[in-house]
Amino acid sequence: MTGKTGKIAVFDSGMGGVSFLPLAMKMLPHENFIYYGDLKNAPYGEQTPQFIKNRVSEIFDFFIEQDAKIIVIACNTATSAAVKYLRAKYKNLTILGMEPAIQLAAKNGEKDIVILSTPITSCAPNTLRLIEENRAKAHAVSIPCGGLMDLVENNEGLSMAENKKQLTAYLKQRLKGVVDEDSDCAMILGCTHYIFLRNLLSELYPKVRLYDGNEGTARNLRRHLEEKNLLNPSLELGSVEFFSSVDNAEFTAKAKSFMARLEY
Ligand code: DGL
Repeated sequence: MTGKTGKIAVFDSGMGGVSFLPLAMKMLPHENFIYYGDLKNAPYGEQTPQFIKNRVSEIFDFFIEQDAKIIVIACNTATSAAVKYLRAKYKNLTILGMEPAIQLAAKNGEKDIVILSTPITSCAPNTLRLIEENRAKAHAVSIPCGGLMDLVENNEGLSMAENKKQLTAYLKQRLKGVVDEDSDCAMILGCTHYIFLRNLLSELYPKVRLYDGNEGTARNLRRHLEEKNLLNPSLELGSVEFFSSVDNAEFTAKAKSFMARLEY
């Protein structure tokens, strides 16, 4: 594998993993990032695990060609479906995945936890294991949110206001009987796309405490680079370059506008 000046490769089915970039770039300002969004095959949450394994292998091969020194799967669904397979297949690569932040919420003393994720992540063995391991500390309910990723991507090309209306209707309907405006619980965003819903969720459910895996993963990334002596020695500010399975220029413009929505 490549050395210190290699790139940090990040990928997701679409915009979700873009939410990871501002924080990671702030923590690692001299690194060069490449990002791949597989929008043509999204949503992953509604694909089969076998399809995801094959597709992500192709993306990893592309990352290797692009001189990647470490890969971050900024997608809970692809992590659930394929990380074991990928680690066995690409033994020389360092691969970081993302899991719903159940551990973190339980460690923070949360007793009632609602996990929002894609249909695959929601019943994946790693999610069920995390719920089970923390059962003595916290009661966790897993809610599959099929279709929510598409609404976040705003595939219909709706106005922001119309999109917000649709998202609100979706969330209210999906969380009916589980979370309401008075609920005092933890909510885990177990899909990176849902990180773009933080403001809306706080508006709808003001007492709910939101958790996601971005900060933990960014710290984990920095730790791995430090331990493996792979930090880029450059004093220049690093960059990010976007690639995708759809039109690259359009994808890049969309990704930059999603990145601008988040501040860390
Ligand atoms: N952003 C993804 C995740 O974290 C995947 C969404 C999808 O493609 O279904 O799970």
